[in-house]
Order: sequence, then structure tokens, then C-alpha cells
Amino acid sequence: MVSAGVNFGLDLAGEIKALKRERNAVILAHNYQIPELQDLADYVGDSLGLSFQAAKTDAEVILFCGVHFMAETAKILNPTKKVILPDLDAGCSLSESCPPEKLQAFLAQHADKSYYVIAYINCSAGVKALSDVICTSGNAEKIVRAAPADRNILFVPDQNLGAWVIERTGRRMDLWQGNCYVHIEFTARSIGAIHAEHPGAPVVAHPECPFAVRLLADEVCSTEKMITYCKESPARAFIVVTEAGMLHRLQKEIPSKLFIPGPTDRCACAECRFMKMNTLEKAHAALLNLEPEIILPEQLRARAEAPIRRMLELSR
Ligand code: 13P
Ligand code: SF4
Repeated sequence: MVSAGVNFGLDLAGEIKALKRERNAVILAHNYQIPELQDLADYVGDSLGLSFQAAKTDAEVILFCGVHFMAETAKILNPTKKVILPDLDAGCSLSESCPPEKLQAFLAQHADKSYYVIAYINCSAGVKALSDVICTSGNAEKIVRAAPADRNILFVPDQNLGAWVIERTGRRMDLWQGNCYVHIEFTARSIGAIHAEHPGAPVVAHPECPFAVRLLADEVCSTEKMITYCKESPARAFIVVTEAGMLHRLQKEIPSKLFIPGPTDRCACAECRFMKMNTLEKAHAALLNLEPEIILPEQLRARAEAPIRRMLELSR
């Protein structure tokens, strides 16, 4: 029996935990979610870790606290499970920058190139369905190195991540001109200025940052690898150049060190408005009503599953 509308005198977080048990649900949260949601989740991580968790869960319901493409990936991997997202409008500017129809038209126009398409996971199911393999910021280098040597590669949709992988691998790729509206706000000026204030603090940046910012970084990596890097580094303070939600987990797991958010030219830190659409109230309502739910046409889902499975195989 589900406790619809009944208040057990628990706080909202307590009610969510109780509902989670009743629903046989698992809560997966991305590193950029608000602290209250991260603290409630069964697993908090980057897109790669979240994909592995989604692939192996035996829960009946997945409450995905992240953005739409992440929940959609979980649904693609779990067609028989209910995947719910606290706010269905939690999108992603990178995903938006590559509509499947445009990609399809581009591929048709350049059929002579017979592209091997590598899609960053920050894209829609429609784009995944047109791709050969998916990658995340955590495995992009590995996935590109594994691509057939005799094929032209088209990397979509993030031009900055794509450029970073070219720098790392030397592999030539054509890049879709998309970007993340949050990470392109960081500039050499804003990061240079904060570094001048904390000269001993290594700069840790996400590969979605522009070239001039990556150039200033001591480490460029996925959000999950930021945790490992900061744990293992002897440094006591770090400048963290990514979405500000990242600082919660860093501070929680490494309380003895100082984490300074990378500023932009306009703000002391950068926040993704999509990631911040999810709240405790919406998570509670989603578990109570089992909606909003991610629904996908089966043909599209099946076509999008193959390149994700290929990525998971290559990443083990
Ligand atoms: P990570 O997979 O590194 O967590 O990145 C996801 C993302 O959306 C970055 O903006
Ligand atoms: Fe998309 Fe950028 Fe938000 Fe990540 S931070 S979800 S890439 S808009």
C-alpha cells in the first residue's frame, strides 16, 4: 500500500526514503544535483557511473535525479522498468545543439565520408540511434582510441570535448559545433584571476570547458575523476572548474581540503539551470505519482541501446 498524501510526521527526505522502499525504487543522482538530493541518493556519480548503475539495478523504479538525456539513457537500458525524472523540463544545451533531424541530414549530405559516429552521451535518444558508439567524459579517450582506424569519425555534439580528445589521441575527427552553455562561460581571464589569488591550488577542469581554460588546468577530467584526483593529490586546495553542484560531494568526501568554485566573468560560480530544476518536492511527487515517466517508442529505444551497450562493453 502506498502512502499517498499521508504525512507520517517525517520530514520530506524521510518521506522520500519511505516511499522509495514502498515503490522498490532506486535513486540515482548526478554530481550537479542539489545537496539534498545527492544526500538521499543510493548512488551519486558522473554519466558513466550512472549508466553502469542503471544497467545493473534490479529495482522496479528508477528515480533519476539528473537531466533528461540521463534518465532517457536509463530507460533505454531498462525498457521494462519505470524511469521517472522529477522535472521533465530538465534538459541540456548540448543535447539541444544536435537535433536528430539535423544530424540525419548532415550524414545524408556527407554519405561519401561514411562516418563512424561517436556521440557524447549528452544527446537525445534520436541522436544515439544514429550513432555507432556512445562516450562520456570519463571514457571518451578510450572510445575514440577503439574506433576503426580506416573510418572517418564524426564526433557529436560537444566541440570542446571533441577537441580535447583530439589533443589527447592525435586522432583526426570532424566535430559537431555544439557546446555546454555552463562550461563555455569560464574564460582564461576568470580562471587566471582566481588562480592568481590561490597560486598553490591546482586547477581541475571539465573537458566541456573551452581550449583557453583547459590550457590553464592541471587536470582535465570527468566529474567522477575529479573526486579521485583531489583525493590522491597532495594539494590542500583546488580550483574546481565545472558546475558548482560538484563542490558538495568533493567537500563531503574530502572534508580536510578546500574547494574553490571556478568563477565566470559574471558570477562567482557557474550553475546549470537544468540540473537545478529538480527539487526534493518534485522528487517526492515523482515517487508518489510515478510520473513524469520517460516513455520511448520501442524501435527508437532498441536502435539507441546498441551504441550504449557498445560503450559499456568497451569501458569495462
Ligand atoms: P560528467 O559525466 O563528467 O559528470 O559530465 C556530465 C555533464 O553534463 C557535464 O556538464
Ligand atoms: Fe548539459 Fe551543460 Fe547542464 Fe551538463 S552542465 S547538463 S552539459 S547544460
